[in-house]
Amino acid sequence: CGIVAYVGERECAGILVDGLRMLEYRGYDSAGLALHTGRGVEIVRAVGKLTNLDQALAKNPLAGRIGIGHTRWATHGRPNEANAHPHVAGKVAVVHNGIIENHAALRQQLEAKGTRFSSDTDTEIVAHLIQEAMTEGAPSFGEAVRRALGRVKGAYGIAAVSGDAPDEIVVAKDSSPLVIGVGKDEMLAASDIPALLAHTRDVIFLEDGEMAVLRKSGATITKLDGTLVTRAARHIEWSASQAEKGGYKHFMLKEIMEQPRAIEDTIRGRINVSEADVVPEEIGISVALAKSITRVYFVACGTSAHAAMAGRYWVEQLAKLPSTVEIGSEVRYREPVFTPTDLVVAVSQSGETADTLAAVKAAKAQGAHVLAVANVLDSAIPRASEGALYTHAGPEIGVASTKCFTTQLAALLMLAVYLGRRRGTLVQDEARRVLGGLLRGAHDMRTVLEQKDKIQFIAKKFHRSRDMLFLGRGTGFPIALEGALKLKEISYIHAEGYAAGEMKHGPIALIDEEMPVVVLCPKDAHYEKTVSNLEEVRAREGIVIAVCTQGDAEVARLVTPSISQIPSRSPRQSFALSEPDVVEIPEVEPEILPLLTVVPLQLLAYYIADYKGTDVDQPRNLAKTVTVE
Ligand code: G6P
Repeated sequence: CGIVAYVGERECAGILVDGLRMLEYRGYDSAGLALHTGRGVEIVRAVGKLTNLDQALAKNPLAGRIGIGHTRWATHGRPNEANAHPHVAGKVAVVHNGIIENHAALRQQLEAKGTRFSSDTDTEIVAHLIQEAMTEGAPSFGEAVRRALGRVKGAYGIAAVSGDAPDEIVVAKDSSPLVIGVGKDEMLAASDIPALLAHTRDVIFLEDGEMAVLRKSGATITKLDGTLVTRAARHIEWSASQAEKGGYKHFMLKEIMEQPRAIEDTIRGRINVSEADVVPEEIGISVALAKSITRVYFVACGTSAHAAMAGRYWVEQLAKLPSTVEIGSEVRYREPVFTPTDLVVAVSQSGETADTLAAVKAAKAQGAHVLAVANVLDSAIPRASEGALYTHAGPEIGVASTKCFTTQLAALLMLAVYLGRRRGTLVQDEARRVLGGLLRGAHDMRTVLEQKDKIQFIAKKFHRSRDMLFLGRGTGFPIALEGALKLKEISYIHAEGYAAGEMKHGPIALIDEEMPVVVLCPKDAHYEKTVSNLEEVRAREGIVIAVCTQGDAEVARLVTPSISQIPSRSPRQSFALSEPDVVEIPEVEPEILPLLTVVPLQLLAYYIADYKGTDVDQPRNLAKTVTVE
């Protein structure tokens, strides 16, 4: 979601809408404004893209010099008008970006005191908490917001106004971005810099656990405990389009780098750490259903099918259920057999893929239960399913999926743990081990992302390759497929992903001194077998790029090019002499490996495509959402 706020001397409805336009890439399910109009705080909201808000404002104009605005990417509650921001409670209006983790408990507490809710969102809870603090006698609006936020757990960037504080806006942040723009006799705030650039380049970044009271004369920043913070504004030199991409050259790179945050958002509030379990209400299937199913049948297409393959391995391992993965377009045109004790898991980032949707309908027609794993709230596949488990990757703009993929992995791992716990196949200590690994996953992923320069260097050497082979075992196999798909999609280099053990049955014939082979060989149960496959490649003078565990000297030694490769016509091979092409990942629980090993492959594909100069965010012939068969 994107939020903006303005306090100053100019009419601000237009300023807020223009700001939101710069943030529309963050979500476009609905939008809305709340302004001090002289008659208190008034709001206008509309479902869908910003042009709908423009039309609503044309019919129902808002005049005022203080206001807040929002463009929504739905996470809780359908994308309808009642769930559009701003949310109002009494005289208070709030816009919010993020996820309130303890929303269910807070909602119950408020309902017990007689609070009536008009939306399904977690945000409305914040509005009521602020209004409650005002009613209970908080000495100022800022103090009321502080008290309210003291009760909230989760991620938020918020902006709030109150009819009782006609000169102020209060903004606050924890784990979601919020930037203050310092103007002349005016102050702005937004979730991202692009929304501010038309008015000022002097910005103050709020830090986690801080809030600010904005008046036209300036900002008073404090920590949530009330301590005053002094922070000077910074001048930024970004152009508008650079800013939209957060300074990255392409959305795809931005989205790759956003993955740790996306994983955190996807698991937030869904894991019960003390009980080493997954919160049933968050998974989308009941405890009774989890116990009664006899098979898990994944359907998906493209990248989502690769996530489903990892999901299958986990369901087998942790829940001991028979499990299979099928491609949507195959299921719909064969004569698949489903039973009423099947759980069909439809994995789709867009939630709209026609082939996956058709498979869902076929499964339902035969009485199977269907759970959707999707990134777009209330999209067609979740609507056609009994339950939905949403990934919280936020909008993905790059056509080649990255952060949606890794959040699908996180969601499917939680699903497998949930099934395993309900079915008694996964003991608490094991669940604790896996979930503990998942909780640390975002941190470990950041360590991998820090090697992006090294991966760029490897990409430079190999970007003229004609073909590439990707090998992996276990959950490394779907990652090998995904690495090959990413490369094909955006760099147009022919690539194949293979189960490492299957190489000897065919692709080994392709290996020569020209074709790079990417081998995923982290230290897991398959390590020794995969390393012998790596040796088979090297024995045939093949070039290896290895993704292995930190400090694996054995792999580094094996990957170092041999003497016979020294005299070479090709500059990339003389490059290769300097150091082995190895990307190291931290030592993690084996279930977390695919979330990490895919990252170097995404970056490798990205940098190779960038060196080739292709249209990375919109590769030829591809579409983000495929609603045709
Ligand atoms: C298209 C996209 C892919 C995606 C696939 C499945 O091909 O370009 O990134 O993996 O569709 O889409 P879905 O929305 O169902 O995950």
